[in-house]
Amino acid sequence: MEIKNAQFVISNTDVNKCPDTGLPEYAFIGRSNVGKSSLINMLTNRKGLADTSSMPGKTQLINHFIINEEWYLVDLPGYGYAQRGKEGREKIRRIIDTYIMDREQMTCLFVLIDCRHEPQKIDMEFMQWLGENGVPFCMVFTKIDKLGPVRLKENIAAYKERMMETWEELPPIFETSSEKKVGRTELLDYIEMINK
Ligand code: GTP
Ligand code: MG
Repeated sequence: MEIKNAQFVISNTDVNKCPDTGLPEYAFIGRSNVGKSSLINMLTNRKGLADTSSMPGKTQLINHFIINEEWYLVDLPGYGYAQRGKEGREKIRRIIDTYIMDREQMTCLFVLIDCRHEPQKIDMEFMQWLGENGVPFCMVFTKIDKLGPVRLKENIAAYKERMMETWEELPPIFETSSEKKVGRTELLDYIEMINK
């Protein structure tokens, strides 16, 4: 799919104030610093469209970007950032959970996972919660430029194994690097396929 146009629309904490066009949207979620905003910039080929930072906790709002005037990419705040404190974490979590549960036009959630780590409890619990609530999602491994092919394969296999302990079927899985522009075609083709 060709991205002809990508524009920032609105940021907010209130799901009721998100765009009311009814167009389908694809949202990016995962732990703080996993690379959500960077992936949106990579997919759209627009540096600086979504704000990124080497410090976790950069994205604090629900951000809508309209693509080709037909659908939205949505950048969400990261979950589980320790420095924010319990209250701050719960506030962010409420924003995320309300968006996911209330947003009918949210067609697919992309759950980003840093490929360098072993399966993390917070991510496993989050995906479990998605499954229990019937939320369609994919897993997206990020920062694959940071690992050699052998380690990458091992880490992804470990995740799949852990998933199979509780899931009968694995969700679609993507491997990406925003740095090296890996996985762009695969993700965009997937969005195009389910957008029809
Ligand atoms: P929050 O908004 O804080 O939740 O973070 P985020 O998930 O949006 O992460 P962001 O895109 O801001 O990226 C965090 C850091 O990881 C930045 O320093 C990015 O440059 C870096 N980063 C993101 N993607 C990649 C990647 O594919 N490869 C490498 N090497 N670094 C990456
Ligand atoms: Mg961000």
